[in-house]
Amino acid sequence: MKLAVAGTGYVGLVTGVCLAEVGHQVTCVDIDEMKIQQLKEGIPPIYEPGLTEMMQSNVAAERLRFTSNFQDGFEEADVIFIAVGTPQNTDGSANLTYVEEVAKNIASTAHKDTLVVTKSTVPVGTNNRLQEIINLTKLNPVKIEVVSNPEFLREGSAIYDTFHGDRIVIGVQSKEAAQQLEEIYEDFHIPIYQTDLRSAEMIKYAANAFLATKISFINEIANICERVGANVEEVATGMGLDKRIGSTFLKAGIGYGGSCFPKDTNALMQIAGNVAYEFELLKGVINVNRKQQIRLLDKLKQKYESLTNKRIAVLGLAFKPNTDDIREAASILVINELVREKANVIAYDPVAMDNAKQVLSPTVNFASTIEEALVEAEAVLIFTEWDEIKTIDLNVFAKMKTPFVLDGRNCFALESVKDFPFEYHSIGRPALNLESENLLI
Ligand code: UGA
Repeated sequence: MKLAVAGTGYVGLVTGVCLAEVGHQVTCVDIDEMKIQQLKEGIPPIYEPGLTEMMQSNVAAERLRFTSNFQDGFEEADVIFIAVGTPQNTDGSANLTYVEEVAKNIASTAHKDTLVVTKSTVPVGTNNRLQEIINLTKLNPVKIEVVSNPEFLREGSAIYDTFHGDRIVIGVQSKEAAQQLEEIYEDFHIPIYQTDLRSAEMIKYAANAFLATKISFINEIANICERVGANVEEVATGMGLDKRIGSTFLKAGIGYGGSCFPKDTNALMQIAGNVAYEFELLKGVINVNRKQQIRLLDKLKQKYESLTNKRIAVLGLAFKPNTDDIREAASILVINELVREKANVIAYDPVAMDNAKQVLSPTVNFASTIEEALVEAEAVLIFTEWDEIKTIDLNVFAKMKTPFVLDGRNCFALESVKDFPFEYHSIGRPALNLESENLLI
């Protein structure tokens, strides 16, 4: 089967590469010519473990190609995946301009029956609307059916997730469409859950909102743990052993970031609001996350009345490990605030520094190693649980000007920190080696 994928962002590129990997003939289409040029040279525009190698080997096997010309990409395709961005409008709703543009391009190109598979996260009802747009604008008497196929992969483990997902959700209008999708996904050996268009669209938002809820819930428990002297990791483990609760997404920290949870929770608020439904629980989840993202800053300000000219080290900029993505990362939010408070910030991240440089004030300095970031620092704030950070020799902290460590991702076991001479605060766990009885809550 000949497949095309519109959009070479995270979802589109990973989908295209993985579909080629199981033997399909795939053309990835993007209007960004520079990106396409880069892809043709074998360089993915995103950092994702395993992606470069898999992409290059499929190009070499002539199963995967790239084009910036949609006609060239769509013309021969039996199935076209839409995986373009749905960025957030200022009111929190999803911007559907790119998705609709692709639908119109498909309608104007198709000269044979085509299946259009929407992978982009779109509000409930969008696929019906895309079907209407296509029906109204198609030039040839062909059958074009739109189906919904939301994506559940995570950045940083996108390839693994694509091949090991718990389920593939498809929202279809006909048996034929379902059969065609089953054929495409056959070699992934993942159970397929078939439903209607609107339910499939809702599954995506509900799943992300539920995961975000788990995170905000455990973060609130963590904040209470700090006050009552309990340890949130013990609590999460004990809770998670109950199969009805499950152990995943109960890791307390400085809240969720990235391009999905913040955007999708806001979009779901909009979807509910549009039908006059007040989604009280989700509103709380979003507010808790906002507060949690600045938790380390709050603690820092309890220690230092003024941050002016204080040298503050920041370790980890990406919104999570194994990605260079800094979108909605707590690190960026907090660094901007530190700069406003006239602190001298020196930051380090193994892969996200180039992206961070583009959005942060030029007064922020960047170190090429963890050790360099810590020189003369009066506090260090840890935002990402990179392996490189988690496996650091803890002696490095003792060399700071003021060995004061605020760990937003619980990178170190309390047991391993307790004998080192630095003050250590993490999330939802007892503080260690306090200079005074200041709990910093
Ligand atoms: C998320 C979902 O997990 C994917 O299933 C979904 O496909 C994707 O959004 C999307 O909609 O495209 P992603 O944003 O890549 O994936 O990353 P996650 O691993 O889910 O982490 C999101 C944020 O939550 C990160 O900032 C992470 O640090 C935080 N998190 C995650 C926690 O604070 N605690 C946890 O226990 C888990």
